[in-house]
Amino acid sequence: MNPIAVGIHDLSLAATHYFLDLAVLAERSGVDVDKYYLGLGQELMSVPAADEDIVTMAAAAAQPILERHGTEGLRTVLFATESGVDQSKAAGLFLHPLLGLPHDCRVVELKQACYGGTAALQFAAALVARDPQQRVLVIASDIAKYQPDSPGEPTQGAAAVAMLVTADPAILALDAVSGIYSEDIMDFWRPNHRTTALVDGKLSIEAYLRASLGAWEDYRRRGGLALTEFAAFCYHQPFTKMAYKAHRNLLQANGFNPSSADLDAALLATTTYNRLLGNSYTASVYVALAALLDSTTDLTARPIAFLSYGSGNVAEFFSGRVVSGYRDQLRTVANAEMLAHRKPITFDRYRELPDALRAAVGNLVSPRESEGAFRIAAIRDDKRIYEVVLH
Ligand code: HMG
Repeated sequence: MNPIAVGIHDLSLAATHYFLDLAVLAERSGVDVDKYYLGLGQELMSVPAADEDIVTMAAAAAQPILERHGTEGLRTVLFATESGVDQSKAAGLFLHPLLGLPHDCRVVELKQACYGGTAALQFAAALVARDPQQRVLVIASDIAKYQPDSPGEPTQGAAAVAMLVTADPAILALDAVSGIYSEDIMDFWRPNHRTTALVDGKLSIEAYLRASLGAWEDYRRRGGLALTEFAAFCYHQPFTKMAYKAHRNLLQANGFNPSSADLDAALLATTTYNRLLGNSYTASVYVALAALLDSTTDLTARPIAFLSYGSGNVAEFFSGRVVSGYRDQLRTVANAEMLAHRKPITFDRYRELPDALRAAVGNLVSPRESEGAFRIAAIRDDKRIYEVVLH
């Protein structure tokens, strides 16, 4: 008997109210803009308004999925983030009143830097394989923040991805085989007292490359597909040029000598959204998938490779096959609107926007700034108060 197909049945993205053009940051920092546009491969970064956070982005990403599929059979919500808003309570629980989640559904938060979304996806697939009647909502939502004027600043960003994981999926069937690499390394971290990440940038790139190769070798040892079989490669993209560095490194380590055109063929379509969103940490590799699926190439029945990397570090190389009829499930128009409807933010407002809602202690009322369906209205007695905005 063939094992049951399990994978991504629906996929939805959300970003923030604002974006900052990296040309503005370059000008104010006295840096040649081509360092960002060409060197890092980044053009815009998503910036949350004062009344947005990972919960409001998560709600915005998940709402269209629940509208389309309802909540029947939804027994688990896995919320991956490294920009958590509470040390104890899972961010996903705030979604209950915002989205009308059922009470007979477990809700858990997962963390391992940018890898957390992939852990959630694999755990979800295992739950569904055990009981194919169940469906799991996986959410990856993050805000990347570095110290102002640090080298990491142009690689900031924000986005959320929601994915419904089911049996007999309509978009992508996951392969059972996957390759893993993990080790203890201080390439990027955020101690509890900080709202911005600490990073050793050059070490983080080396660590990403080493872990990618380790995960790939494990994938192959376990019977995974050959490099030449994949239609495209979705990498974690802290900045889109990182996907190019990693893929070139992977191909060279396996005896290939790729041209720029070879790399573009494997990667370019996966980078179009991340180039405009910035690093969305746990969401980034699935933002890459959404961009690839929304591109014009017909991927029906083609195998796609994924490399998920989370500093610290854990990497996983895995694969999936695009399901026939997948285009009918996509949210290509909504994704284009989501990107186009963000508002430009001035440099001064960007720099003065505090991480207020993440770092806030005690009470705080946040005036209406965003225009989405969900906002954080206040923090009262250290309790976060979210609201649904009726339009
Ligand atoms: P930097 O050191 O200021 O930049 O910061 P650089 O000098 O290395 O330049 C960047 C690229 O631009 C180089 O290209 C330059 O040549 C080029 P490369 O040699 O690498 O191909 N360049 C130009 N190109 C065209 N015209 C010009 C020009 N000038 C320079 N005029 C760094 C770069 C990535 C270190 C910094 O942005 C940083 O620290 N970022 C944060 C850390 C990061 O993103 N690491 C990536 C791997 S770790 C990871 O992905 C995990 C993470 O997502 C966290 C998590 O897991 O939770 C970060």
